[in-house]
Amino acid sequence: MKSVLAASTAMFLAAPAMAEPSAEVLHWWTSGGEAKSVAVLQDQFKAEGGTWTDMPVAGGGGDAAMTALRARVLAGNAPAAVQLKGPAIQEWYEETGLADIGDVAGENGWAEVLPPQLAEHMKCEDQWCAAPVNVHRINWIWGNKQILDANGIAMPTSWDEFNAAAEKLKAAGITPLAHGGQNWQDATVFETLVLGLGGPDFYRAALIDLNPEALTSDTMKQVFDQLRTLRGYVDDNFSGRDWNLATAMVMNGEAAFQIMGDWAKGEFLAAGKVPGTDFVCWPAPGDGYLYNVDSFAFFEVEGEDKQQGQKLLAKLIMGPEFQKVFNLNKGSIPARTDVALDEFDDCAKQSNADMNADAGDGSLLPSYAHGMALRGAQAGAVTDVVTNFFNSDMSSDDAVQQLADAVAATM
Ligand code: GAL
Repeated sequence: MKSVLAASTAMFLAAPAMAEPSAEVLHWWTSGGEAKSVAVLQDQFKAEGGTWTDMPVAGGGGDAAMTALRARVLAGNAPAAVQLKGPAIQEWYEETGLADIGDVAGENGWAEVLPPQLAEHMKCEDQWCAAPVNVHRINWIWGNKQILDANGIAMPTSWDEFNAAAEKLKAAGITPLAHGGQNWQDATVFETLVLGLGGPDFYRAALIDLNPEALTSDTMKQVFDQLRTLRGYVDDNFSGRDWNLATAMVMNGEAAFQIMGDWAKGEFLAAGKVPGTDFVCWPAPGDGYLYNVDSFAFFEVEGEDKQQGQKLLAKLIMGPEFQKVFNLNKGSIPARTDVALDEFDDCAKQSNADMNADAGDGSLLPSYAHGMALRGAQAGAVTDVVTNFFNSDMSSDDAVQQLADAVAATM
């Protein structure tokens, strides 16, 4: 008897306890709409028995989050899951390695449900190393419906029309453009102008290929001229303002327009505003679609619980139900192509239709301002010039030369 008991106890002890999945998750989703969205993932993770340790780092665009990430990696203590996107995924893979999530991707058929262009961003040397949550469109203009109606203004179909509307609003004592003077917001407006005024081929030459002729061209000068014009449409307190506070200005009738990606819609929705009634979404004048795909990558960590947590997160992120609910809150559209959009609003439906149309003719383009197009050093070089221009009286001639010089220095 004794020996049987001893044997069974030994067996019991030897049986590996199933590790409970856990994950520390670094992200920068702290605004109203963003927090509501990431809570969907947190809730699903907990419902599956996971322990979620939240590591939110405030700061739109994620610059502060990326600084925090670097500090954690240098300390030898990378978080298990990190909001990471674009070429930064491959840069981190080269620097530290990233967990291979190929088994999760394979079991769940990711290759069959992701657009190929988007799937490419999730691969490191052909292995799956990141999981996409959405597709955000950058080149939108958001408008306060009541202000536009009261002033007889239609959403502009050209930048000249935009300027005419802005002059009219200014004359009526209304701030035309809500803007937050932070580097990444300046860059967001700038890239929208590069695409809007130059077109898809020009955008590609200038901000993907970094072609010196495109960077110093007359078209680029026009882009800076228009940026200077927009500078005249923002209020005096724009410096340093967070993007969601700029969105709130449009919401509250303190400004007419904002040029921002569709996380702004998440903010309107979280405040109970209705598209088409309270606010208007409108693709910024010009052809093409600038995309920004949020994703999570998983650093190589020790511990069965953490590794299980990474796998569970990767699986949940690409789950059809998560992709629907998350994106209904976030303002973006699902990365998966097989999620029905019936419950989505017209802004989302237009985003999806435009994305599909533009994918066919090469005008579906990665956002440089949101880290989808360039490596960090190059994107930073472009943004520094843009921000310096916006905050000084630099001429457009000087700006294009500085742009070309700054980019050349990173090559
Ligand atoms: C973007 C990110 C979005 C949004 C925005 C503002 O870079 O992709 O999800 O949250 O920053 O924080």
